[in-house]
Amino acid sequence: MKDNQLILTLFGATGDLAARKLYPAIYRLYKAGNISDHFAVIGTARRDWSHEYFRDVVYYSIKDEITQAHEADEFLSHFYYQAHDVNDADHYQSLATLMTHLDNQYQIGGNRIFYISLNPVLFPVITHNLRNQGLLTDNGYNRLIIEKPFGFDEASAIELQIQLTKDFNENQIFRIDHYLGKELLSSFRKFRCENLWAHFWSKDYIDNIQISLAEDLGIGQRGAYYERSGVTKDMIQNHMMQIIALLVMEQPCNPSAEAFRQEKIDMIKSLKKYQTLDEFKKHVVRGQYKANRAKSIPGYRGEDAVDPESLTETFFAAHIELDLPQWEGVPFFIRSGKRLERKYTTIHIVFKAVDEHYAPNYLKIELDPQMRIQYYFNQEKPGYNTGSKVVPMTFQYRSDLETRIPHDYERLINGCINNRLDDFVHWYESKYAWQFIDHLYDYWDQLNGEDLAFYEALSPGPEAANELTKAHGTRWYDYQC
Ligand code: BG6
Repeated sequence: MKDNQLILTLFGATGDLAARKLYPAIYRLYKAGNISDHFAVIGTARRDWSHEYFRDVVYYSIKDEITQAHEADEFLSHFYYQAHDVNDADHYQSLATLMTHLDNQYQIGGNRIFYISLNPVLFPVITHNLRNQGLLTDNGYNRLIIEKPFGFDEASAIELQIQLTKDFNENQIFRIDHYLGKELLSSFRKFRCENLWAHFWSKDYIDNIQISLAEDLGIGQRGAYYERSGVTKDMIQNHMMQIIALLVMEQPCNPSAEAFRQEKIDMIKSLKKYQTLDEFKKHVVRGQYKANRAKSIPGYRGEDAVDPESLTETFFAAHIELDLPQWEGVPFFIRSGKRLERKYTTIHIVFKAVDEHYAPNYLKIELDPQMRIQYYFNQEKPGYNTGSKVVPMTFQYRSDLETRIPHDYERLINGCINNRLDDFVHWYESKYAWQFIDHLYDYWDQLNGEDLAFYEALSPGPEAANELTKAHGTRWYDYQC
């Protein structure tokens, strides 16, 4: 039996993520032959849909990708729907019956992936019933895919981990961070370790590292969730931590997922905590967007389901450091925010200048809006004694590597099918990330909102963030706030 023969059961099949990301991802995997014909997808949710209606919904979400109608029809015929109340044990019995039937019909041989795209408070009741109502098999693999947030602080994450590991062991749990499915990040290790940079990747040559995850979008209909999470829990605890870990991790001692993830755990664990409130205030900026009346954009406090006096941060910037000899004294300037001027997701590795008369060289790794890597260096301007200019050497994905780039969820579902745990977040990565985030909140609790900097929606962000880089004698290499 091959790994790509499987039943994928999706909890939350009527949701937005499923329609926007998951069905197209499964279809692309099927078209590329990464899922065999021995497969079935069971969609579950509370709504009472028929198989046919479900297939129509899936058809609608993949229609732009269809090249051959008969292939799409064949694909859709593998989709089944079962109305399901996650708290009702009897419903799991019906699900078990359907699974056994489909397993025989498609000669699957017992492989099962359970993908939970629902509120995390429901994870434990689902995993408990999956085990206790006999939905896990002995003859194939049983894997669980879950989406963030994994808890709201370290204590709640520990509690969740205790619950889940009663039913699934750590190596069966695939925690999604969709940034790990982004092409440039998943291939970053190669870029960094197989090239010249490998010799220069340390405090001896790197002056500072900057990471910007900026969005022009607001919070949409997610006010209730966002009020609890803010940008710090929504973007920093997960995506930002993963980027930092991938940027600085050591080469693992062997090629296993375990060794790879251990290196990342060590990086996240080494984030230095601020020792005093003064130090914290100097190194951390949080902000919230105000209305932009000219563009008819409401402020955060005017969004649906948001407290009109909310102190939730929609912008975060900080100077952080790692407690590791090879990175000693290297500042990481990180920032993320909603309703900024535009969407850009970039990493800058700024090297030490050759001497004080020359501008530093830097690498710009751009994930959004373009996918490219640029090396900026000094070049003489043509003419006589005209001085030099910093110019880029560019590697652009679309034009330079003529191959289709897998989408993030496509790569991650494929990763789960092939048991590539290194594409997923280990429990300890999440735990240590929470420890760092929790300590920020300890300081914010003391400040009671006095530090919240307001910025106009669709502006570059609070100016206070520029002080972070200025204090180190540098600037944000993307946009200044
Ligand atoms: C999600 C956050 O994890 O990432 C969203 O919950 C955010 O708030 C999104 O918009 C950003 O992802 P990307 O891939 O567009 O940078």
